[in-house]
Amino acid sequence: MESTKITAETIRSMKSGGEKIVALTAYDFPMARLLDEAGIPLLLVGDSLGMVVLGYSDATHVTMEEMEHHVRAVARAKPRALVAADLPFGSYATVESALINARRLIMAGAEAVKAEGGRAILDQVRAIVAAGIPFIGHLGMLPQHVIEEGGYHIKGKKELEHRALLADADALVGVGAFAIVLELVTAPVARQMTGRVQVPTIGIGSGPDCDGQILVTPDLLGMLPWRPLQHVKAMLNAAEQMRFAVELWKQGVEARGGPRTQDEEEVKPIRVHVRVPVRTPEWLPVSIRVRRKVIPKTGCRPVG
Ligand code: KIV
Repeated sequence: MESTKITAETIRSMKSGGEKIVALTAYDFPMARLLDEAGIPLLLVGDSLGMVVLGYSDATHVTMEEMEHHVRAVARAKPRALVAADLPFGSYATVESALINARRLIMAGAEAVKAEGGRAILDQVRAIVAAGIPFIGHLGMLPQHVIEEGGYHIKGKKELEHRALLADADALVGVGAFAIVLELVTAPVARQMTGRVQVPTIGIGSGPDCDGQILVTPDLLGMLPWRPLQHVKAMLNAAEQMRFAVELWKQGVEARGGPRTQDEEEVKPIRVHVRVPVRTPEWLPVSIRVRRKVIPKTGCRPVG
């Protein structure tokens, strides 16, 4: 596997090289390590942390201390990937606070920072870039503005929004952003922005024509069945697989007190619902023999 460290410049040059940028969020050491081993070039310690790890209702509750804690955990994996981190809500309201907090994230192990907004935060972005900190913009639906916007709405449908998105993208590139995340931007507007700016656009729910795509990893893996997924097709049903493994182990402990010798490993066939492939909506009841050490690769759960 290629071992050269990925930098902001690597990500930027992927656009001119015609290489799609595949990015995912990471919040801790094992996830960072696994995603890095899978060859993901850009890991974002996103403030989605608040909703998918810390149990907050939205991103506005995440603090600098929480971001630093999780950036440190991701950085300990020493990934080849570039590690970017979100400046959380309220941490970049002024140029001074933006600079102090961007530096704090870098000290914690981030190699780039991201913040939401375009022309409204231009002075902050200029100062961050001037301090030598690679910066990623974030336009479209801005999760840190969810309260004032009254929800998560698609951006770019109205002419005014469309023009604002183009102006914001131009402004961010003008002050040195090396990439821009486009969240929930209509596909035609995202395509236009991608064709217009020199730096890569990385889309989430913004159609296929961005220079790359990013997802919240627990959404991709189906870890949070209670979280509505508008724009994500989960590739795995990790929540079901975890429940299945835990129930299987629990049943073993309750019946026999725990794992026994290798010879005793085979247990009675139990009926489980299996779905193959993982995205088939119906559960198919089948009987399979389950060894305690073997967790079926497809999504499955015990009956009853
Ligand atoms: O916080 C986050 O995870 C993000 C992604 C949705 C891009 O900003």
